[in-house]
Amino acid sequence: MSSISNSELEGAQLSVSVGAAVEQAPRKVFIKSFGCQMNVYDAARMADVLAPEGFDETTRVEDADLVILNTCHIRERAAEKVFSELGKLRELKDVRADAGLPTKIAVAGCVAQAEGAEILRRQKSVDLVVGPQNYHRLPDLLRRADEGRGGIVDTDFPVEDKFDHIAAARPEKTRSRGISAFLTIQEGCDKFCTFCVVPYTRGAEVSRPAAKIIREAEELARAGVRELTLLGQNVNAWAGEGETGGMWTLARLARRLAEIPGIARIRYTTSHPNDMGDDLIAAHGDDPALMPFLHLPVQSGSDRILREMNRKHDARAYVDLVARVRAVRPDIALSSDFIVGFPGETEQDFEDTLALIREVGFASVFSFKYSPRPGTPGADMADHVSEPVKAERLARLQALVEEQRQAFNRAMIGRTIDVLFEKKGRHPGQIAGKSPYLQPVQVDAPEALIGQVRRVEIVAISTNSLFGRLADGQTEARA
Ligand code: 5AD
Ligand code: SF4
Repeated sequence: MSSISNSELEGAQLSVSVGAAVEQAPRKVFIKSFGCQMNVYDAARMADVLAPEGFDETTRVEDADLVILNTCHIRERAAEKVFSELGKLRELKDVRADAGLPTKIAVAGCVAQAEGAEILRRQKSVDLVVGPQNYHRLPDLLRRADEGRGGIVDTDFPVEDKFDHIAAARPEKTRSRGISAFLTIQEGCDKFCTFCVVPYTRGAEVSRPAAKIIREAEELARAGVRELTLLGQNVNAWAGEGETGGMWTLARLARRLAEIPGIARIRYTTSHPNDMGDDLIAAHGDDPALMPFLHLPVQSGSDRILREMNRKHDARAYVDLVARVRAVRPDIALSSDFIVGFPGETEQDFEDTLALIREVGFASVFSFKYSPRPGTPGADMADHVSEPVKAERLARLQALVEEQRQAFNRAMIGRTIDVLFEKKGRHPGQIAGKSPYLQPVQVDAPEALIGQVRRVEIVAISTNSLFGRLADGQTEARA
């Protein structure tokens, strides 16, 4: 998954003007998210539950009465990075304290879940540690932090549905979410890949009921959202209670969400190959709202490594699955995650991965050097691959997938495609949007088109963007 973080702490001014301390102005919260889109979504939900408590979001950490680090545990030295961020925040807290401004520091996300009280032990300036299942309790936890002396840890897996509380806490007027929004429909994972911490930090698979998802999607649509990206650690394993009883699949849910007035596009991420149901594949062929982009991690092209990773399928099954999806939607853009240097990976295993990449052809890829996560089976496996070998394999893999990505983008030149415009562009007079294949597209066009899907002829590409012009006389393709 992509790495997204908001404004950096680095370079934040450590000076605070005392004048700002007076009056009981609305309090400010600064949330810094690391890692996956689920954390971006969770950050917005945390802002939602804090809004009725009088917290406004700020992008300036030095102004914040409450700083939340929304952490990710998937990458190497994740906990160490959090502690280094916390060191910087302690200085900021001290500077603000000298100016008479109290600051609360909270650690949320998967490092909070994994490390729990250890965080309080190692960094005394932390007031609150809260796991991903308990964000609805934030107001209460903050009140307890205000009253008490010691830090507070809440990393239970509660029985109540956090989403119920979060939905209830949201102010009537939904905040602007932009044109494209995330919506979590499923959390947790039962797959237990041997490299991965998610089953431990996010817990067992839970699917939200369709009715609640639909209600949230309707609210988002009312706030101007036109594209929904349905989120889950194992999103295509979503199996939720249907709107009128019975169990629904993701394909059924996607069709229902597309009926909501205003919703033009549906995406979903992240999927496991074994949960790609026949009806979801079919939906890619006949549901025009379902965008032709599929993030379907395979991790390795070696059957032996796939077995060691406990991925529960072999390379052939993946290639065959891709062929079935392409049979109904030939232009679909494929995306994947790869891990190089899993314990025991030989040069031949790695060659098998390159061969799979050549056979499938990807529009985008996220690739990682294996890093042992304590508590996962992979960490205890024999034959760890040396750092230089991992680095060399990663570079070779990235060179290959970069070639494929550029080729995919080049093939767009001369084509006319639908673009959903989301925001102002990089230069005056430009607006920016996304192609169906998730490529950023820049077009010279009036801002009034933001929020609309228009036909665009692609005329040029740069490293990361497509450039196009409005195809005259064509109206919106959907909705
Ligand atoms: N080492 C390296 N990469 C990892 N990922 C998950 N755990 C690890 C690990 N221990 C990668 C996988 C996953 C993506 C989100 O992060 O490729 O799909
Ligand atoms: Fe982790 Fe595997 Fe579950 Fe994905 S499917 S979240 S990699 S355990």
